[in-house]
Amino acid sequence: MSVQVSEGLRGPLVDRHGRVHRDLRISLTDVCNLRCTYCMPAEGVPWLARENILTTDELVRAAEIAAALGIVEVRLTGGEPLLRPDVVDVVARMAAIEGEQGPLEVSMTTNALRLPTLAGRLKDAGLTRLNISLDTLQREVFHSLTRRDRLDDTLEGIDAAIAAGFAPIKLNAVAMRGVNDGELTDLLRYAVERGLELRFIEQMPLDAGHVWSRPEMVTGEEILDALAQEFMLTELPGRGAAPAERFQVDGGPSTVGVIASVTRPFCGACDRVRLTADGQLRNCLFARTESDLAGLMRGGGTDDDLAQLMHTCIVGKLPGHGIDEPGFLQPDRPMSAIGG
Ligand code: 5AD
Ligand code: SF4
Repeated sequence: MSVQVSEGLRGPLVDRHGRVHRDLRISLTDVCNLRCTYCMPAEGVPWLARENILTTDELVRAAEIAAALGIVEVRLTGGEPLLRPDVVDVVARMAAIEGEQGPLEVSMTTNALRLPTLAGRLKDAGLTRLNISLDTLQREVFHSLTRRDRLDDTLEGIDAAIAAGFAPIKLNAVAMRGVNDGELTDLLRYAVERGLELRFIEQMPLDAGHVWSRPEMVTGEEILDALAQEFMLTELPGRGAAPAERFQVDGGPSTVGVIASVTRPFCGACDRVRLTADGQLRNCLFARTESDLAGLMRGGGTDDDLAQLMHTCIVGKLPGHGIDEPGFLQPDRPMSAIGG
């Protein structure tokens, strides 16, 4: 497949606030083998109808057009992306797409459960970077948080990723009061001992159960205070468009990141755009509207039509998510359907 985008449409994806978009997050499936409370209710969410999930040819076409518009990195998410049966093939085909500065960089956010089987094949297929979710090291906490008793499988998945030679591997931990806020230093020690970069994330209002509460949220400042009890942290400059503020741990080489999406939003530097598993383009996690890329594709839209839709979607991007402002409305779809 090779797409044909007219010269006039090839420019970068720039919004009204001058932000240039380089990072496309694609949700490969909305299903998951865990039920993290900050993401899904216990019974799960109504899954998308199978025929509405983009086919791999459709995903590749969308990524090729995005690459012609300046996207340089594709991050595969879910739900749990490793539950897509042809995930290795998706990675291989994405990694073969030529962007403006060489082949697309392909990364993934996963819960690691299927990595013992897949890590080596994903590496060979061209996956470069891995972000793995790990919120706790305590079996009981893991069980009640994810509603599945699978901490050991997750830790095996992390070991498999290390053994397959992925570097860097980042760990994501959502900080939650009364859940894991007492083990933040344990998590950092675990990461440092294995040469992994841990990033703590402020919980955002993205749960399907709508139980998020601003006063309950553990703030980035609290996270740093807790870590400083045991580690010496030195702030690193040069955050760029990255959401994490990074700190050297005990003089390095290990680092830790804090993603303070709510208390210190980084929307002004955002370069991300999202494609849901059912082919809806979203210019923000918190967008109230979506652009129907799937509908256009399946209705016979040309590559230029799709490129135009991407530009229009980005132009309409709001300056920020406004979580901390009165009148904020949570998106209708949960995180599992939007894609982290
Ligand atoms: N708040 C913050 N981060 C979240 N994630 C999922 N839901 C939320 C939320 N409500 C992130 C977690 C998870 C990844 C898939 O997305 O880091 O590991
Ligand atoms: Fe699954 Fe990720 Fe949602 Fe947890 S946060 S239920 S691992 S999609």
